[in-house]
Amino acid sequence: MPSSSIVHAAVFAVGAIVGGGLVTAVGASRNRQFNVPSTSQSSTPVVDVKVGPSGETRVTPTGAAGVVTSITPLPAVLKYGNPGPIADQLIRTAYVAGYDRRLRHPAWTAEHLTLAKLGKSLLDPPSSASETGDRSNSTFTEDESIPAMFRAKLKDYFRSGYDRGHMVPAADAKVSQAAMNETFLLSNIAPQVGDGFNRHYWAYLEDWCRRLTGSFSDVYVFTVPLYLPKQDPDGKWRVTHEVIGTPPNVAVPTHFAKVVLAARPSSPSTPTIPEISTGAFVLPNAVIKDETPLESFVVPVEAVERAAGLTLFSDEVKNGSKHICQTTKCEVLIRRFDDARKRPEMRRAISAPAK
Ligand SMILES: *[C@@H]1O[C@H](CO)[C@@H](O)[C@H](O)[C@H]1NC(C)=O
Ligand SMILES: *[C@@H]1O[C@H](CO)[C@@H](O)[C@H](O)[C@H]1NC(C)=O
Ligand SMILES: *[C@@H]1O[C@H](CO)[C@@H](O)[C@H](O)[C@H]1NC(C)=O
Repeated sequence: MPSSSIVHAAVFAVGAIVGGGLVTAVGASRNRQFNVPSTSQSSTPVVDVKVGPSGETRVTPTGAAGVVTSITPLPAVLKYGNPGPIADQLIRTAYVAGYDRRLRHPAWTAEHLTLAKLGKSLLDPPSSASETGDRSNSTFTEDESIPAMFRAKLKDYFRSGYDRGHMVPAADAKVSQAAMNETFLLSNIAPQVGDGFNRHYWAYLEDWCRRLTGSFSDVYVFTVPLYLPKQDPDGKWRVTHEVIGTPPNVAVPTHFAKVVLAARPSSPSTPTIPEISTGAFVLPNAVIKDETPLESFVVPVEAVERAAGLTLFSDEVKNGSKHICQTTKCEVLIRRFDDARKRPEMRRAISAPAK
């Protein structure tokens, strides 16, 4: 897809909501647990409402001696089943993610990158690997914390023709082997075109995000799989996407977004007042030529929010920030040497799955 039509698709998505919306990502991130107001003087919760593994609601008294002082009854229509709220908010060492049970891949992932957290590995390779994660010591793993029915499986990706694409890159989790292992959970993975995308342009963009820590003290990165509508010859807009697995299980996003917020002191005399830069990039899940300018993928942050059904930044942040391409160079480094590290994964993807 030429980049101009990507931007068009994204801009369309901005307008689409007004006309009824073609948003497919679910992604709402609500807490799995909330407190029902109590009439007792104690401010501790008296009742926990938890959404169980298959979406059912469990109400457990937690007050003193297990005495339930007040329970808001479930609406009667939900007597035999309560579908929500659903949210698998996954809190990991190097990232936080929201999982989409319907699409079987993350709805979004969030990371906070700093030079210290990346362990300088980005500027000069670590002399000793002992204290950092090594991707060759991690293997892709099904996430047992997701109910089996909604879980992405290794066999879904097997011979699918797609790479198991990290949403939070392994290289962002070098702080420890355990942290890196968490990036290999299939709840952090979505199907990505391998050659020309996951192993190339997308990897360059991940690298660009890491290199932002050279000029900004704090870098926040959201990665968001997207399903953008395309106009058919009959003039109607439709979302079509593949689903991999037998039976079909994991949805293949049409696009992926990276949304970054980078902060640094606004000036040496005002170290506590940050200068905030934001930017959003939407890339098609397709082969992208190395020489394509990164700026050709720029979209308004709001375009990603509308397409994903997610609020990433407050209006204040959106209004009060500069565009990242004004405060730093939006230019990827072509790094074909990454191939060597990404290829072993591909070999594993086509060998027999562990499960
Ligand atoms: C990776 O595994 C190899 C062999 O099992 C081991 O020698 C090496 O120390 C491990 N590296 C890390 C970073 O754990
Ligand atoms: C990381 O994953 C590998 C392979 O699954 C496993 O052998 C290793 O023990 C894990 N390391 C940590 C620190 O969890
Ligand atoms: C953001 O800016 C727009 C116009 O520039 C303004 O209408 C809006 O009130 C602002 N919102 C906030 C939260 O500052």
